[in-house]
Amino acid sequence: MPIILSSSASTPTRRDFLAGLLAGGVGLVATRSATARASDAPPWYALISDTHIASDPKTKSRGECMADNLRAVVDDILAQSPSPLGALIDGDLALTDGQKGDYQTLLGLVDPLRKGKVPLYLGLGNHDDRAHFRDVLSIEPTQDTEVVDKHVGIVEGPPLRFVVLDSLDRVNVTPGLLGDRQRRWLARALDADRKTPTLLFVHHNLSAEEPNALTDTSALLELLKPRRHVKAVVFGHTHTWTRRDVDGLHLVNLPAVAYPFTNDQPLGWCRLIPDAEGAEIELRCVGGDRKKDRERARLPWRSS
Ligand SMILES: [Fe+2]
Repeated sequence: MPIILSSSASTPTRRDFLAGLLAGGVGLVATRSATARASDAPPWYALISDTHIASDPKTKSRGECMADNLRAVVDDILAQSPSPLGALIDGDLALTDGQKGDYQTLLGLVDPLRKGKVPLYLGLGNHDDRAHFRDVLSIEPTQDTEVVDKHVGIVEGPPLRFVVLDSLDRVNVTPGLLGDRQRRWLARALDADRKTPTLLFVHHNLSAEEPNALTDTSALLELLKPRRHVKAVVFGHTHTWTRRDVDGLHLVNLPAVAYPFTNDQPLGWCRLIPDAEGAEIELRCVGGDRKKDRERARLPWRSS
């Protein structure tokens, strides 16, 4: 899953991006060491979702230029000091059906993060095409038979562990699905480290009622119930900024970068600042309804 953009300051080439890829698509990656950072400010991560980038960066949808919005997000991330330990994009990278050109344009738009030495981790959504994504980024399918057809990964980032899941079921078909085999893989991955506070990233929203949400939401929540080291599930899909919790498990719906579905929603990204007892999350708006810009919320970790 994870790609780490190389730190070369030159114009990005396909080789630059390939250099950072983990073979197999299932990876265990340590982010940059906090000790290497120039500042004593707490470490943080940039959380991004629903970029919906088209191959032509001038493309607009619902009155928004998605490439311009992503440029604004990247600029805002890089304006922060210190820079983040990593940035995660939670799916719907591409506009509609995951054309190869969409991913090529996306890589160009996030290139300033590469030059800023910010590791970037990408998940997939229902508007992505796994085969095209893998082809553009030269990602080989994993050898792990339980997730051979999925794009998943684990990021070991201080002080958290991130597990990025793949809920893309069928290209440009709205509902999402993890499936039995990915959930078995997830259980094994979670049981391998039951001490480190862990966050899950999945594109589809968790809802047992909504037909367009993650259709195996109930099975996922059942899996997470005894694994209390999982502190939050972060998703996109609805283009809505909301937070709630189930049994102390935080369910965080990230705003979209691309365009809102309703006029009362922001466009932007979130800063996640973890500590030993929880995390602070801050909304950073680049468009849409900005009345909640810089809104901060505390996410206390549930007891293990
Ligand atoms: Fe989306």
